[in-house]
Amino acid sequence: MSIPASLPLRNDLKGEEPYGAPQLDVPVCLNVNENPYPPAPDVVDTIAERVRQIAPTLNRYPDREHMALRRAFSDYLAKESDTRLDPEQIWAANGSNEIMLQLFQAFGGPGRKALGFAPTYSMYPEYARDTFTQWVTVPRNEDFTLDVDAAIAAINEVRPAMVLVTSPNNPTGTPLPMDQTKRLLAACEQASVDGADEGVHPILVVDEAYVEFRTPGVPSAVTLIDEHPNLAVSRTMSKAFAYAGARVGYIAADRGIVDAMRIVRMPYHLSAVTQAAALAALEHTDEQLSTVAHLRETREATAAWLKGLTYKGRPLTVAHSESNFVYFGLFDDRDFIFNELLRRGVLIRDVGPDGWLRVCMGTDEEMATFRAAFAEVLALAEKEA
Ligand SMILES: Cc1ncc(COP(=O)(O)O)c(C=O)c1O
Repeated sequence: MSIPASLPLRNDLKGEEPYGAPQLDVPVCLNVNENPYPPAPDVVDTIAERVRQIAPTLNRYPDREHMALRRAFSDYLAKESDTRLDPEQIWAANGSNEIMLQLFQAFGGPGRKALGFAPTYSMYPEYARDTFTQWVTVPRNEDFTLDVDAAIAAINEVRPAMVLVTSPNNPTGTPLPMDQTKRLLAACEQASVDGADEGVHPILVVDEAYVEFRTPGVPSAVTLIDEHPNLAVSRTMSKAFAYAGARVGYIAADRGIVDAMRIVRMPYHLSAVTQAAALAALEHTDEQLSTVAHLRETREATAAWLKGLTYKGRPLTVAHSESNFVYFGLFDDRDFIFNELLRRGVLIRDVGPDGWLRVCMGTDEEMATFRAAFAEVLALAEKEA
């Protein structure tokens, strides 16, 4: 980073680094929770065709309200979560990162607070910083489940404008059971908001970036939207949908929340190319999601395998995951494990509490490479001990 001292950078940004997992040119990248399977050739053909079709209109701005895409997400959620929402209850942006930032811009801000449950997704404090919102966390239980009583006590004490809960959680993979979501919602509906008028209540944002990897049959928070005007459920095409490069996230929420986001969005924030590419992939929903069941099996097999291993004589601890990654530890020196894996061409993620590492599910070949490399590294750690 080289920002000259003569530039009027905001005081609170001095010394800050750009956020992001390392992008390294190594054979096996299991660090950013992507779906490792690329779009099939017929999906690629549809994407190319749909982008070609809109190319002659690129002299014009795109549909600012992206209604065709919102209708397509409404159809998707009807199928995936058994809930039919109006397109007005859906809003899309450049990744769920932008969705979250718009939520913070609309509901956070100076004098406002957002509450989360640590460890959790490391971008939340960044959205808070960028919007001058105070970020407050309540620790999760030792097994990374939510301490719902502590969460409710904090909602009443902190009086946040936004409560953020990730299900399944990143980096731990922990799902939030429906009865707990309902308890949080009920608490938000009763609580007041610091810095807001009387009668204003916090919104509950459920970040379901990884929800398609949950156990089949488990309901999504999307099913609660019609009865709860203060609920927002954030989703993305980046994970199960295997479309991270297209940068498309969306939210399902009451129309009031969507309208609040429309105030802060950039005009024409979602390019015509992005909208066309997203619609093209949604034409092939079944195909795009066809690897999810296998990735779930890969997760179960990887978790079981890790549980059978020891580190310096102690069995590894593996967090229960309903996502496409597995969080495991506890290592006295996680940097050693991380770096030795990297030396063997396998990039994973050293994120969250000290001693823990996260590995994302790759192809069968990538997972075989990971296993071989990790077994070697454990043996090396044993020797060094
Ligand atoms: C919990 C969670 N939410 C949101 C995102 C952002 O995803 P995207 O901006 O690609 O939709 C991620 C990405 O890793 C995530 O882990």
